[in-house]
Amino acid sequence: MAHKNPWPDEGNTGHIWDEDLRELDNPPPLWWMLSFYAGFVSIIFYTLYYPSIPLADGHTKGLSGWTQVSEYHESVKELNNWRERKFAWQEEQMSALSVEEILKDDELRTYAVKTSKMLFGDYCAACHGASGQGNPNFPVLVDDDWLWGGKVSQIVTSITTGRIGYMPARGLMGNLTDSEISEVAGYVLALSKGKGEEPAVAAGKAVFAKGMCIACHGPKGKPFAPAGAANLTDKIWRFSADKDDIIRTITYGVNVKKNGVLIAHTRSGVMPSFKERLPNAEVNIKRLAVYVHELGGGL
Ligand code: HEC
Ligand code: HEC
Repeated sequence: MAHKNPWPDEGNTGHIWDEDLRELDNPPPLWWMLSFYAGFVSIIFYTLYYPSIPLADGHTKGLSGWTQVSEYHESVKELNNWRERKFAWQEEQMSALSVEEILKDDELRTYAVKTSKMLFGDYCAACHGASGQGNPNFPVLVDDDWLWGGKVSQIVTSITTGRIGYMPARGLMGNLTDSEISEVAGYVLALSKGKGEEPAVAAGKAVFAKGMCIACHGPKGKPFAPAGAANLTDKIWRFSADKDDIIRTITYGVNVKKNGVLIAHTRSGVMPSFKERLPNAEVNIKRLAVYVHELGGGL
């Protein structure tokens, strides 16, 4: 900085850099000052009008009562109202018609499937997988292998009341030995490959009769009617195709309880009842049943 100001009459502040770079003392332009004050005013306005100052137990609410969350709820409400108006006819039909009638109507069927995806994601996907492909210990819904039946009315019952599979431990009388169980497991594996009649598994086949597996799984491993028992003649496994896993299922059964408590190693298979769980259950159960039916395997 120079010691002597070579431009004393210029109105500079006397601050000079690099020989000739001077700081002048002019007032700011009027437009600039006005916006500066307008800024102050709007700060006060905003502070009073909107939620702004954090407090120990929350924040000032503001005169407007506005919050981002309430604005979000408003727009969701608007969207829902719009949807309700646009799809009022379809929703009325969904409520008025039976699930079989909905299934037969191309437009309503498509509508039910489209409007089920979110519901399925929220209420079913955790167990059955995002698109019904199943998870370990939770059945696949996209095939035509049904424990409880693939007619749409049976699917409605599965969802409405829930389902609990039951298979006793060690055969119907509970009297099979470990070696018999190993033999019958070999027979079950052969059944799934279409080799149930081969001499190598004849002993296992005899155990299948002795253990009265037939009562639930049918004489040839295929249940007479869907009542929860797995079809043993296909390659679709409710639990697993691993021989040790099959032995476990036969040894400890499915949902076997002693004094009201599941015994160790028994398989658990409980489909919860959704009658009370789903919002607007009457319509949404029909909707989801059509969706599951259309996933691929409905009968
Ligand atoms: C807590 C886990 C769970 C949830 C959530 C769940 N399920 Fe299930 N679901 C099961 C189990 C386990 C079974 C098999 C029951 C058995 O072993 O007998 C099953 C069986 C079924 C069946 C019968 C399948 C057959 O082969 O006959 C249908 C249909 C079904 N679920 C649909 C649904 C729908 C639709 C939802 C959503 C509203 C849903 N499930 C939610 C666990 C669940
Ligand atoms: C009271 C009826 C009942 C009897 C008796 C019964 N089961 Fe089962 N079994 C079931 C049910 C129900 C399931 C399916 C459980 C589920 O999915 O929740 C099942 C499942 C199985 C599975 C699993 C299949 C898979 O796909 O993973 C095997 C293996 C099996 N049973 C073999 C046998 C054998 C062998 C016997 C005779 C020793 C037998 N069961 C006796 C009802 C029975």
